[in-house]
Amino acid sequence: MNKRLLSTRIGRMLLKNPVIGASGTFGYGIEYERFFPLERIGGFVTKGLSLRPRRGNPAPRIKETPCGLINSIGLENIGMDAFLRSVLPRLEGTDTAVIVNIFGTTVDEYVELAERVDRFRRIDGIELNISCPNVEAGGAEFGKDPLVVHAVTSKVREATDKTLIVKLSPMVTSIVDVALSAQSAGADAVSIANTYPAMAFDLESGGPSLGAKTGGLSGPAIKPMTLKLVYDAYARVRIPIIGVGGIITVEDVVEYAIAGASAVQVGTASFINPETADTLVRQLEEYLSARGVQRFRALVGSAKERCPSSV
Ligand SMILES: Cc1cc2nc3c(=O)[nH]c(=O)nc-3n(C[C@H](O)[C@H](O)[C@H](O)COP(=O)(O)O)c2cc1C
Repeated sequence: MNKRLLSTRIGRMLLKNPVIGASGTFGYGIEYERFFPLERIGGFVTKGLSLRPRRGNPAPRIKETPCGLINSIGLENIGMDAFLRSVLPRLEGTDTAVIVNIFGTTVDEYVELAERVDRFRRIDGIELNISCPNVEAGGAEFGKDPLVVHAVTSKVREATDKTLIVKLSPMVTSIVDVALSAQSAGADAVSIANTYPAMAFDLESGGPSLGAKTGGLSGPAIKPMTLKLVYDAYARVRIPIIGVGGIITVEDVVEYAIAGASAVQVGTASFINPETADTLVRQLEEYLSARGVQRFRALVGSAKERCPSSV
């Protein structure tokens, strides 16, 4: 394979291709080794990790909808120490980018998580999940307020030299303002975006379908909305954007690239077919070659020129 065709850069990470397994849908990576060699994809993002293990929300935690999935997992995870001790060593010989998704309830927790991760050479990047309640601010989400995004990102930036990606919530007044806050605080990239608040009802009981009542919508239903967020952010933001939302086909990957994504993450599609990410890499190579596109990077943002003040 022509290495230059698909390679893409996110901060310090030179990814062999732009396809990344999305947080919460790719386990801790090792679960997917039985479906395809992890080396074939650009990288993966772990399930969100916190300082202590979490049990998550009451069942049911997943509800299928006609065009997507509502989940309320509640950030269940094994805890950072168990990941570093038991999982990370198993990824030692695997040539793919390992990105650790972290979340906390205070700025100090995010910083402590980043400090722990920073000591491990095998970890290539950190993705901050800021769609979490900030207990110091009465439970408002970190990701809603550009000033809070700046505060948490800059503190984490001081704690690590690893590639720092801030994963934005789509539920903000201005995606541009939030992305610019992350950029000015030292983020290397932004992931756009997390899930959209959603609900479903069980007509037998007359109550909500999910144990936690509400959840986050993902899958093809959200693609057009998230695509617009990527397009809007690309016009103003200088750092790379990772597009994530509803990617199923190679055409979806290309759409995100044209809108401005330097890489993409595949989430819900891996639940339909766990080989999706691997298949997309192969199909992307064929798609570009068949159209005489020399480099994936040439597509990025081709729908729009960046405004001169941001370059
Ligand atoms: C079951 C499930 C669990 C998720 N867990 C996390 C998580 O722990 N941290 C995070 O940042 N995003 C999490 N996400 C969000 C995904 O990474 C992704 O942003 C979202 O699902 C949109 O992409 P998709 O439409 O391709 O699934 C989760 C999504 C799903 C469906």
